[in-house]
Amino acid sequence: MPAPATSTTQAPPLPHWENTPEDLKAATREIKAAIRARIEASGRTVEEVFSVVEAQMAGRVAEIEAAQRRGEPIWPVIDYADIEAGTVSPEAAERLHRRGCVVIRGHFERERALAWDQAIVDYVERNNFFADYSGPADDFFGSVGSRPEIYPVYWSTPQMEARQSPRMARVQSFLNRQWTYESDGVQWFDPDQDSLYPDRIRRRPPGANSDGLGAHLDPGTLDLWMTRAYQQAFRHLFDGSVEQYDPWDASHRTAGPQYPGSTMCSVFRTFQGWTALSDMASDQGVLHTVPIPGAMAYLMLRPLLSDVAEDDMCGTTVNQVFPAVERWHPLLVRALSGIPDVQAGDSVWWHCDMIHSVAPVRDQQGWGNVMYIPAAPWCPRNEQYAASVREAFLEGDSPSDFPEEHYERNWPDRFQPDQLNETGRRGLGMR
Ligand SMILES: [Fe+2]
Repeated sequence: MPAPATSTTQAPPLPHWENTPEDLKAATREIKAAIRARIEASGRTVEEVFSVVEAQMAGRVAEIEAAQRRGEPIWPVIDYADIEAGTVSPEAAERLHRRGCVVIRGHFERERALAWDQAIVDYVERNNFFADYSGPADDFFGSVGSRPEIYPVYWSTPQMEARQSPRMARVQSFLNRQWTYESDGVQWFDPDQDSLYPDRIRRRPPGANSDGLGAHLDPGTLDLWMTRAYQQAFRHLFDGSVEQYDPWDASHRTAGPQYPGSTMCSVFRTFQGWTALSDMASDQGVLHTVPIPGAMAYLMLRPLLSDVAEDDMCGTTVNQVFPAVERWHPLLVRALSGIPDVQAGDSVWWHCDMIHSVAPVRDQQGWGNVMYIPAAPWCPRNEQYAASVREAFLEGDSPSDFPEEHYERNWPDRFQPDQLNETGRRGLGMR
């Protein structure tokens, strides 16, 4: 078998679309043919390259299934105290790297998280949110009765306190540093400064019935194959050198464009995450991931095989989340693994490219409350979004990645600029 290509200088270039192509099907046909040609210029076929990835994934899935059968925990757990003290063991760091996800125990004191949860309830009730609420503005999440599960609330004191707290900054820095953020003389992001990425909260009450969320991933859609920056980020997937693909390499990921859409995330996140505001048992409709960071190689190459229609990317298209489905990715979805029981104040994190889902639940026992706070280190892409976040913060608006609901505009007790600390100001680009 020929050796994998180590140089891409002779390989045919890829066409790219920096804005959403007008004819998605034509662009899909064009890019698939071009990636195939580029892979074949390495001397290997697409099928050979994919079989390498498939074998890697099969090994990881078997490892996860064997651990599940033995009753071993799949999700790594790290104590916040070890992060603060700098005493995370190399073995724990290796497990985080291998699984791409982690629960941080005691990230915040339980009492503090429970007090935040109550303060959010007080905040929305004081401002008549439930009377004014006009229903979900997107269909991303379901709702229970007339009360929402997802509150489109961004600027409460608890959310901002958590976002700008030293404990959050420490964990984000620890997580950002799992990535390679310097290469080719470029620092792709600053691991020790995060941009605030204000997101919503979820409060799912006892007794709730929820269908959950299907397996999907959030880093992008067709832009992952079609923009110049992502083509460079995924260069090893598209030029036959798939063995060199490293899901922890941030190069070319922090400045490129994204195709707009209702599901877009404008920022680069090293990890997606949330902080628990209630205790949650692992069988009560919790988050699952396919804990294999390198699965992106499988997801990106699978549409190139001959059993997928030429104008189809295994169902991925703009304005919808990137689906992971039994039909195209049966090997991967077998490895879906839920979080362990968590307590209020624990936080949950997963690599930005990882497949995740939320399990359905009937007659939920206890609350299921979280605030979404990711790790989004300072980089050109996040600096650009921070400008619009700053405006939204000052006006009490919904941030521009989210539906234009703007409930908090006239809520007098939302978090104010004079409450920002140094971390908060830096995270909004106010220096
Ligand atoms: Fe998601």
